[in-house]
Amino acid sequence: MARIFRALVAAAIWAGCLGDAVEGDCQDAESQGLAFIQAKALARDGGAARKEVEYHWSSGRGNFPNYGVAKHSAPFDLPARFAWNWSHPLGRFHTLTYGTAIDHLRNVYLSGADGVRKFDPSGKLLWEYASLPAEMMDAPSLFNGMIYGSDTHGNVVALSMEDGKVGWKTQVSKAICQDNGFTMAKDGVVLAAGDCREPSPQGEANHLVKALNASTGKQLWEYVPDTAIWNFLPLFVDEGDFVFQDMTGKAYRMDLRTGQVIWKSGGKEGTWTDGSAAVGNGMVFAVNNNHPPDYQPPDPEFANGEYNPGTLSAYNLTSGELVWQEVTPRPPNNAPAVGKVKNLQGISVVMPLCQQVKAGAFCDVHVYDADTGDLQWVFHGPAQQGMLQAGDWEGLSERTHAGVRGLCLPNGWSAPTIDAEGTVFVGHEDGNFYALRDMDGDGTIFGDDEMRLYDTKAAFSGSSSPAVAPGMVAIASCDSLFVFKK
Ligand SMILES: *[C@@H]1O[C@H](CO)[C@@H](O)[C@H](O)[C@H]1NC(C)=O
Ligand SMILES: *[C@@H]1O[C@H](CO)[C@@H](O)[C@H](O)[C@H]1NC(C)=O
Ligand SMILES: *[C@@H]1O[C@H](CO)[C@@H](O)[C@H](O)[C@H]1NC(C)=O
Repeated sequence: MARIFRALVAAAIWAGCLGDAVEGDCQDAESQGLAFIQAKALARDGGAARKEVEYHWSSGRGNFPNYGVAKHSAPFDLPARFAWNWSHPLGRFHTLTYGTAIDHLRNVYLSGADGVRKFDPSGKLLWEYASLPAEMMDAPSLFNGMIYGSDTHGNVVALSMEDGKVGWKTQVSKAICQDNGFTMAKDGVVLAAGDCREPSPQGEANHLVKALNASTGKQLWEYVPDTAIWNFLPLFVDEGDFVFQDMTGKAYRMDLRTGQVIWKSGGKEGTWTDGSAAVGNGMVFAVNNNHPPDYQPPDPEFANGEYNPGTLSAYNLTSGELVWQEVTPRPPNNAPAVGKVKNLQGISVVMPLCQQVKAGAFCDVHVYDADTGDLQWVFHGPAQQGMLQAGDWEGLSERTHAGVRGLCLPNGWSAPTIDAEGTVFVGHEDGNFYALRDMDGDGTIFGDDEMRLYDTKAAFSGSSSPAVAPGMVAIASCDSLFVFKK
């Protein structure tokens, strides 16, 4: 009975594939039948207006409107659920790996210093796009059958999800800085950062926000923020707008079509953070460090210490008004995730905190009440053991010989993801990929029932963020891709 049903579904899907096929691999349709049907229905229902196909994890931060939050649950018991990994066949340190996305058939897309790759759900390499000597340092995103990324030679690139062929390639500036941000696409528009140059509170940085037509690559508009941007993460919000923050933590809400500023708010002048903003709960959450990068505290004992305070600010999404603000004891150095966390009331803000590239510095994850900023739970993570983060020194010479950036030097944590069960997934700079949940409500994460980890042996870049599809989570360390399945 079950067999016949399966065969019927498969036949129906094959028929669909041969007909008005949407993008994606029909070979995988049998195993992923339902997702495929839903995607097709979405594409068809669009009619004249042609709706976007819904991918499981369409950008480095997932899907509009609940970025960093998954609709599906991922396996909690990571060590037991490890499915496969991928490293460069010529050696683990032959490339640096950054952002992941997952389509409606659970194929995984991975950006890296040497290009973009697509894998089927079992880890088979389907295609690769070679970019060297330009490096693809951003997390790419999926939109209407194309995957969009940017490279250090100033190009924004659109590749076919089907075969990795270039649809268009537009040089938006002489260079795009090698931070680890996000190229994001929605409603026919691609957003990327450009114009890599001095000055900024942290040396060379991107000075422009660029909007391109997703189907042609033609520039629609550009915008100069008050201070340069770092790890650019634009997030689309209702009514055709988007929000982002600059490196000082100033938040901007802009019109996607015109590039007009609707409001801008906050920020601490002269400072730099490699953290990014988040949206949720009718708010924009932005992060900043409280001191400039070259700050020397009066007491030398605290110089370059692990306690380097920052601020998490919540702004009203409509008006830009400050709703609440919390000082964080360590730098808030990646984008938070805003959603329902297991066993907590209301909506929470999951904020990774860490002074990165600092031997002996501990890294924490704080969870705050999104309405008030009250602290809800804390995970006290490990400290950086070596002089550099895991996998960085070991890979230096191999990477240099391979013609890619020698060191990853990433944020202390990956960006976090909250799955459908409220479990928090996040990667730590000394290699552990964590699944975290507070089962007993005591405000701390402790014990096997609350914390699982898989040691990937390497740190996680700023654009690295756990990508979730039904029963599956994928994350890229600085050198390899790891996939876990239920
Ligand atoms: C992109 O270009 C196409 C072809 O010229 C045009 O039809 C479409 O309206 C443009 N989209 C945007 C968002 O400007
Ligand atoms: C944001 O401000 C608007 C008024 O401008 C108000 O109606 C709304 O309740 C506020 N939302 C939050 C989350 O504070
Ligand atoms: C990656 O997978 C291989 C086997 O396929 C395994 O030998 C290796 O230990 C894995 N790497 C890590 C860091 O888990």
